[in-house]
Amino acid sequence: MEVRIFNSADEIATACADIFSELLVTKPECVLGLATGASPVKTYTELIKRCKNGEISFSKVKTFNLDEYCDLPRDDKNSYYTFMHENLFNSVDIKEENVNILDGNAADAEKEAKEFDEKIENAGGIDIQLLGIGTNGHIGFNEPADSFSDGTFKVKLTDSTIKSNSIYFDDDSMPRYALTMGINSIMKAKKIVLIATGESKADAIKATIDGEVTPQVPASVLKNHPDAILLIDKAAAKLL
Ligand code: GLP
Repeated sequence: MEVRIFNSADEIATACADIFSELLVTKPECVLGLATGASPVKTYTELIKRCKNGEISFSKVKTFNLDEYCDLPRDDKNSYYTFMHENLFNSVDIKEENVNILDGNAADAEKEAKEFDEKIENAGGIDIQLLGIGTNGHIGFNEPADSFSDGTFKVKLTDSTIKSNSIYFDDDSMPRYALTMGINSIMKAKKIVLIATGESKADAIKATIDGEVTPQVPASVLKNHPDAILLIDKAAAKLL
């Protein structure tokens, strides 16, 4: 696992966009695994700028998003479907039929999850998977657990995640369940890039980098990946 420490979130966005741009130029029909949350927003903004400049194109790209809330309408302002369209897809030349986001309202969640994993396999697997990290070390919505999860599945969110993400929701309306790629689905990606900024991520980053590989800190599994890069700022690196 490679760790790169930066002075600011802007520097991270440039470095991360460089990694994606190199792939987009050398393999225009690549498969991207994308993430939501505040962490990737600046990277998406940089990728939009480069796409508008003509440096890169998403016209042949397929994307798969890490996770989606359950029991939230697709067009809700907090759905990851809305997030991805507002922060990236509406501003680049991607084809809507190449965008894959889990349906958190599927009547049969198990079927939805299985079909999602099959679609990834059929697309040839993910070339680069982008990740953020939860304050409890979660990746996607893989919460601390007794064992590492396998493929995509429906998960009950922990109190700590509900507390962290509730700030975006009115009242107590934050969903309690989500669909998420499993740890094994994430680890199958050829390259993984994790972004973490700010002091609130310092404990999770310390446990990920300096601690043992354990499902209690889901991101620690990245140490077992042959090509995982952590792009973190000084605040997130503060306890290293
Ligand atoms: C959510 C998402 C994760 C994300 C995490 C951190 O729980 N499911 O994929 O990495 O939040 O989000 P942020 O980048 O806003 O700190």
